[in-house]
Amino acid sequence: VTAADGEPSGARGLLRDLAREVGDEHVLAEPDLLAGYTTDWTRRYAGGALCAVRPGSAGQVAAVLRACAGYSAAVVPQGGNTGLVGGSVPPGDGSRGRGVVVLSTRRLRDLGPVDPLAAQVTAGAGVTIADLRAHAAAAGLAYGVNLASRESATVGGTIATNAGGINTIRYGATRSQLLGIEAVLADGSIVSRLSGLAADNVGYDLAQLLAGSEGTLAVITTARLRLWPAEPAAVTLLAGVDGIAAAAALHAEIRALAPGLRAAEYVEAAGVELVRELTGLPAPLSRPAPAYLLAEISGSADEAERLAALPSLARAAVAMDAAGRAALWAYRERHTEAISALGIPHKMDVAVPLARIAAFRAELDQAVRAAANGAGGAGPAPRVFVFGHIGAGNLHVNVLGPDPADGTVDEAVMRLAAVHGGTISAEHGIGRAKAGLLHLSRSPAEIAAMRAVKAALDPGDLLNPGVLLPG
Ligand code: FAD
Ligand code: MLT
Ligand code: ZN
Repeated sequence: VTAADGEPSGARGLLRDLAREVGDEHVLAEPDLLAGYTTDWTRRYAGGALCAVRPGSAGQVAAVLRACAGYSAAVVPQGGNTGLVGGSVPPGDGSRGRGVVVLSTRRLRDLGPVDPLAAQVTAGAGVTIADLRAHAAAAGLAYGVNLASRESATVGGTIATNAGGINTIRYGATRSQLLGIEAVLADGSIVSRLSGLAADNVGYDLAQLLAGSEGTLAVITTARLRLWPAEPAAVTLLAGVDGIAAAAALHAEIRALAPGLRAAEYVEAAGVELVRELTGLPAPLSRPAPAYLLAEISGSADEAERLAALPSLARAAVAMDAAGRAALWAYRERHTEAISALGIPHKMDVAVPLARIAAFRAELDQAVRAAANGAGGAGPAPRVFVFGHIGAGNLHVNVLGPDPADGTVDEAVMRLAAVHGGTISAEHGIGRAKAGLLHLSRSPAEIAAMRAVKAALDPGDLLNPGVLLPG
């Protein structure tokens, strides 16, 4: 840290100022206490920080930002640290001479009473999605976002990444749940609009601007969120299919019959085998299939029975009780963990139009091989795992083999998605991982507009420099 007046003892001064604002016990500078805040979930991204600081209120967040600005230190906001694109941890290549402070929101855990009239709730940024979902369920309502990282991922982190997940096709991504926000801007000012008015049409929508801003525009401290009528799942099914085209077609067939389709997920045999090795689960079906569609439908028992009778579901495992449903979900939700158990994967999160998804999949393995081994094609074959939220056209492409520090394979997959009319990020965001490839999905004019917003709200580049927008 360089102090504002060039004082070399700036680091010590900043630590002292932070401790004065939030209390000694909430400024973690010891390497063993700090480690969990400076390496991400994937282990692919890590960097050094002066400390992690844990403010307990919006006022303390404001004080932390002012103190860091005074010492020109960069601030990395962090929630559950489950992000997969390197945006929640300091940069590995230093911070252009600036000190870095990780600002953890985990103490911002206030959860207000559910408002049954409006079907809304106010939640602190550090509330986990699992706690929020349980809170809504206790009031007979549901929160629309659900994802496998629910036990750790936070309200603030999911807003900052505009997280998707397994129910996006029914309820939309996180931005569709967001009705109001309290956040601290880089200059320490607090903006707050938590009334949740369904009709409120006054100028720019700051809450929506912060959805997907990845910690680069403000620190989110509280959110007003939409809740939905609880819809018990009628049936979950895992159907064997011949490949991705068949999975996409079956998902459309089910959707036409069951308007309550709330999840349509895709896995392939290689990934299912890996999950089975990790978990000891039995084969999902008596006859193995090259790929599987996992679908979940809410609705009446009649609807469930009509579906189960579809000839195209002859090869499906069907569950109508909670334990059976959880068992089927494990084949899908434990992919992330099973792949990471083998090494540090290259994790891509693309979406392509459903009409192009089979063409994308057909070209993918060759594109990965060529990128991993160079034009000559020699060398060990990388292992490619494909799974994801097929109803949203969102495929997770995970590649094991190439050096985690080498982004060639990542770029090849994202270019292929772009060629097929897709996007480089369906739900995980851009982070540090894809900042240099923003131009594949956004025009120069769009990037210039984003830069103008960043410069207006954070002229000193205090918040998450190097994330989302290339340096
Ligand atoms: P973090 O990882 O801590 O941070 C993520 C980003 O948000 C960073 O850029 C950070 O700076 C910023 N940020 C965090 N909190 C704030 C705040 N209060 N104010 C401003 N900026 C902030 N993602 C999906 O979209 N769909 C999935 O289905 C999905 N499944 C997953 C399954 C597993 C097993 C894992 C490990 C991850 C999964 N993810 C998924 C990724 C991850 O859970 C999401 O990106 C999630 O939104 C991150 O939330 P977090 O609280 O952990 O945020
Ligand atoms: C998922 O859908 O399981 C997540 O987005 C996590 C991942 O991509 O590994
Ligand atoms: Zn996902």
